Amino acid sequence: MTTFRVGGPARYFVEAEDEKDVIDAVIHARANNLRLFVLGGGSNLVVADEGWPGLVLKIGIRGIEDDGTAQPRALRPRSGQASVPHGPRHYVVGAGEEWDAFVARTVEDGCAGVEALSGIPGTVGGTPVQNVGAYGQEVSETIVAVRVLDLQNLKVRELSNAECGFSYRTSIFNTTERERYIVLHVTYALTPGGAPRMAYADLQKRFANHPGTPTLKETRDAVRQIRESKAMLIVPGDDDCRSAGSFFKNPIVRDEKAAEVAVMAREQGVEREPPRYPAGGGQAKLSAAWLVENAGFPKGFGSGRVGISKKHTLAIVNRGGATAAEIAAFSEEVRTGVRKAWGIELQREPVMVGFGSIE
Ligand code: EPU
Repeated sequence: MTTFRVGGPARYFVEAEDEKDVIDAVIHARANNLRLFVLGGGSNLVVADEGWPGLVLKIGIRGIEDDGTAQPRALRPRSGQASVPHGPRHYVVGAGEEWDAFVARTVEDGCAGVEALSGIPGTVGGTPVQNVGAYGQEVSETIVAVRVLDLQNLKVRELSNAECGFSYRTSIFNTTERERYIVLHVTYALTPGGAPRMAYADLQKRFANHPGTPTLKETRDAVRQIRESKAMLIVPGDDDCRSAGSFFKNPIVRDEKAAEVAVMAREQGVEREPPRYPAGGGQAKLSAAWLVENAGFPKGFGSGRVGISKKHTLAIVNRGGATAAEIAAFSEEVRTGVRKAWGIELQREPVMVGFGSIE
């Protein structure tokens, strides 16, 4: 049930198809003293080999409702033309919907706002939790409300965007209010006829010779191709994408530390300068991929069943038959290597489940 394809069994397992099922499962777990684990798409998890001693509740709530009718193709603005101003279109999506199928639908409907998030595995319910982002877009830009079950009082409520406390790969759901809420539905406000997001260098490069603005569909296809080239798209049969995507977050450090890394890199004769993006407040975001790659862990590193992807140093991959313990140990080796080489403490990006102290 995870994209990493590791992890032991669940003692009990149930899939909830609607909000009532979720509440019933929580009540059942409490009545029977079972620890509850809420599973979405399993694309950002490392589950321990021992598995889960309690109840795994898979969120299977489906449904995509929107408040507009699909605009006929002929009426959609052509690339290069100014788009007709309309209000946003709202999509209320069940937490168990496949994220990428939802993105495909919005692109088909000619609505902009999530097209750069194409090809990301997992389900809709996971997107607000870690504020999923890629290619210059984050879901925090389009989420207007998250409908949740509050485990403190077993009541369903809607949280506004501001209440979710979004920032880079975080929200209240994975920080201050961790384990308090179960995401049931997410409402996104998208822009009919809007232009695709072209903020990311990889995408701009791809469309450098493209006449006019690319369409949402062209952008979606390009993002999926770029993701595939970096082993960040699930391609059946490709061992290199048996992973949880990026294994570490891009670290945010003080500007002075970023400058120090650049000097160290120059002194050590590292060919490529460390990428550095302004993060506000005298801070910079560094590339974890670069730090890993230049700490002695090149693409394809590792001789065992766990290693670094051949296409992207941020992805730790299960080459087949790996255990969760091997993944945890390998990731620690990388973390230690980066700390020794660059004096930076990387933070894991996937959620570790059933590991006890290292969670
Ligand atoms: N780089 C390397 N070696 C590599 C790959 C990249 O040194 O093997 C350096 C390059 O200099 C490159 C820079 O790292 O310019 C950035 O690389 P990339 O564009 O691939 O993005 P990233 O920062 O590594 C982040 C997200 C991805 C997301 C991409 C695209 C994080 C932790 N990761 O990766 O998200 O798809 O940007 O926007 O923020 C995920 O979270 O699981 C994930 C895949």
